[in-house]
Amino acid sequence: MTAATTAQLIDFAYITAAVLFILALKWLSSPAAARHGVLAGEIGAALAVVATLFNPALTEYRWIVIPLIVGAAIGVPLGLVKMTAVPQRTALSHAFGALSASVIGIAEYYVRAPHVTKFGMVEIAMEVVIGALTFTGSLIAAGKLQGILPQRPITYRGQNYVSLAVLGAAVILALVLTLHPEFMRLFPVMIGVALLFGVLLVTPIGGADMPTVISLLNSYAGLSAALLGFVLDSKVLVVAGALDGSSGFILSVIMCKAMNRSFRNVMFGAFGQLPAGAQAVEQERTVRSANAEDAAGILAAASKVAIIPGYGMAVAQAQHKVRDLYDVLTKRGVDVRFGIHPVAGRMPGHMNVLLAEADIPYDRLIEMDDMNSDLAQTDVALVIGANDVTNPAARTESSSPIYGMPIIDVAKAQTVMVIKRSLSPGFAGIDNPLYYMDKTLMLFGDAKAFVGDVVRELSAMQAPAAAAGGR
Ligand code: TAP
Repeated sequence: MTAATTAQLIDFAYITAAVLFILALKWLSSPAAARHGVLAGEIGAALAVVATLFNPALTEYRWIVIPLIVGAAIGVPLGLVKMTAVPQRTALSHAFGALSASVIGIAEYYVRAPHVTKFGMVEIAMEVVIGALTFTGSLIAAGKLQGILPQRPITYRGQNYVSLAVLGAAVILALVLTLHPEFMRLFPVMIGVALLFGVLLVTPIGGADMPTVISLLNSYAGLSAALLGFVLDSKVLVVAGALDGSSGFILSVIMCKAMNRSFRNVMFGAFGQLPAGAQAVEQERTVRSANAEDAAGILAAASKVAIIPGYGMAVAQAQHKVRDLYDVLTKRGVDVRFGIHPVAGRMPGHMNVLLAEADIPYDRLIEMDDMNSDLAQTDVALVIGANDVTNPAARTESSSPIYGMPIIDVAKAQTVMVIKRSLSPGFAGIDNPLYYMDKTLMLFGDAKAFVGDVVRELSAMQAPAAAAGGR
């Protein structure tokens, strides 16, 4: 095969990979097509890697094969973590992606310096600065989510000014290096300052905002990869990085909207500190509680039920029991639908993934706005391990830290039942007035165990002989 034919085939593979990346993003936006999306993305990435290995400029494969084996040995166990650990695992992936982009940028500088063109130096400096700050920022985010570092915002007086000064220093160093690429001693200083900025960027951000920050770091990692594509003159890297960067950014905007937060507030607002007095309010009011038998009776008498899952369902791994509940109610002729809040759980699409894992039909998953317009005609809203996303304080209490966040307004239903273990707050750390309403029944217990008990009660009601044999 001639060199020209090989080059054409490589270009064709890159274009196909780029198309597959675009299709992957499109398909990933719907639960029904998401599996195809993952497959398209994987095939696209594999195609791009294999095509690159055929690049005639590659003469030495040893330093590709060894890191591939080491990377796979680290990556495979990382991919097998529990669902609840996916946010921190994703943060680690961004850290590794950004690290590899910046290391390649650093290598390019030392290969070319001091004879780097001004344009080339702009690309390298931007790519290395963004890659380095994304690396440390993502590590801090992963540490916070894993509980290795304090999850609450770490703040101090004048912190925003310090962070801006450090960022300013990185930008000035990048500018000086662009004008004088031969000042080689400044290059490691610029990297160090960018690494420090990544730490300063994420430490003051609270746990509840971490998924938004991770999504933003995702977009930085994509931006860094796209810039690296310019440095290496790799079109497929430019396309993949740009798609990664823009989709991460769009996701951050969607999440901010779903929480009614501005970027400025997420990045500099130190959200997630428990407001003083939140627990005191809890002690002054009374709640009505019920057991599994009562709950089963109420559900059996309903004709329309809305289930609102949240983070507690993920922690309890209750999705399969919830599927059993869906089956047993549907068999009784009850119309069961699931209200999905865009930020329920701890990562985008968290509830969709769990419910899909339990094979709940996709057409039963209803988005927040549609669910809200139907709740007044709903007999029972059953909240399973969700808290903040149903908190009416977001609508009524202007002093609340979640004021303005759209919620699934379960209080519109005739009866509300809430499964959780206690009256403890959710991730925003605030009390939930829903629990003290007359129409609310608290079902205290672990979501998996409680839903299992309700299913047993319902099965016993429905067909006592069959229920005696168990499921
Ligand atoms: P949360 O408000 O965090 O509430 C979860 C509730 O689950 C807790 O109150 C907890 O109460 C309960 N729980 C925990 N373990 C349980 C178990 N084993 N069985 C039963 N209940 C259990 O969750 P949410 O309503 O899903 O809201 C998500 C929060 O994360 C929001 O504040 C949102 O802004 C934030 N957030 C999410 C995202 C994404 S992308 N999802 C992004 C940024 C921020 P007990 O301890 O009493 O059981």
